[in-house]
Amino acid sequence: MKLNDKVALITGGTSGIGLEAAKLFQQEGAKVIVTGTHLGRLEEAAQLLGDSAMTLNVDLRDPAQLDRAIVEIVETHGRIDVVYANAGAATAAPLEAVTPEQISEQFALNFNGAFFTIQKAVPHMPKSGAIVVTTSFLNETGTPGLSVLAATKAALRSLVRSAGAELAPRGIRVNAVSPGPIATPFHGKLGLSEKELAAAGEGIQAAVPLKRFGEAREVAQAALFLASDDAAFITGTEMVVDGGLTQF
Ligand SMILES: NC(=O)c1ccc[n+]([C@@H]2O[C@H](COP(=O)([O-])OP(=O)(O)OC[C@H]3O[C@@H](n4cnc5c(N)ncnc54)[C@H](OP(=O)(O)O)[C@@H]3O)[C@@H](O)[C@H]2O)c1
Repeated sequence: MKLNDKVALITGGTSGIGLEAAKLFQQEGAKVIVTGTHLGRLEEAAQLLGDSAMTLNVDLRDPAQLDRAIVEIVETHGRIDVVYANAGAATAAPLEAVTPEQISEQFALNFNGAFFTIQKAVPHMPKSGAIVVTTSFLNETGTPGLSVLAATKAALRSLVRSAGAELAPRGIRVNAVSPGPIATPFHGKLGLSEKELAAAGEGIQAAVPLKRFGEAREVAQAALFLASDDAAFITGTEMVVDGGLTQF
């Protein structure tokens, strides 16, 4: 097993990619802690993952909630071996319609949330700890309507290099997994109409060289690799899981 007895914190672990990662990490021997904010999804995740898993209601836009969660995790498990900073959300809007609030909200969750998760977990991580961050294909391409989301992910890509450099002397590795279009509830929360979503979906399928959306589990497999000792000499990198979208 690739994560035997490891304590793994997965933010945004109640849905989509994070939930698949939680299941996979658990199958590989990890004690998982998942976070989210939606009570129904937290409850479903708790049932799915069973008693050995911890599910925590943490709005990552509020660093004080993160502080409390880290205390609870450390009181229960004593340490955190793996951090998968994965939570994210976005509102689609053309440049001229973007509001200051939308920019603040998206950076508060996607960038600040991941930043403070890492900052607050690191004091409890042993040498050989591993951090994985979910970035996005959007940090490599320009996509109309997603300028703010793309910018948050580009900032995260940068953070992976800076945190990787800073934490390497402590033996903690930091890497990113960069999903292409993945079939999760994410797209339904962008604020697009059914018609816009359907058109975007068709366009994406045509553009992806492998001609399909990816599965959440396919991203989780990459996160597992980066979190495990199989990637012991890999830090600062981004593993792209996008059906070739940004590569050809
Ligand atoms: N799906 C894609 O095509 C795609 C492509 C590239 C990158 N990504 C990235 O992959 C990551 C996971 O997305 P997904 O596709 O799995 O989407 P998802 O199914 O919508 O999952 C998002 C997760 O983030 C959590 N979350 C949302 N707002 C939060 C908040 N304020 N505080 C704490 N947690 C919050 C959600 O929990 P609650 O709902 O309970 O709050 C949920 O667990 C995101 O960072 C996303 O940007 C996705």
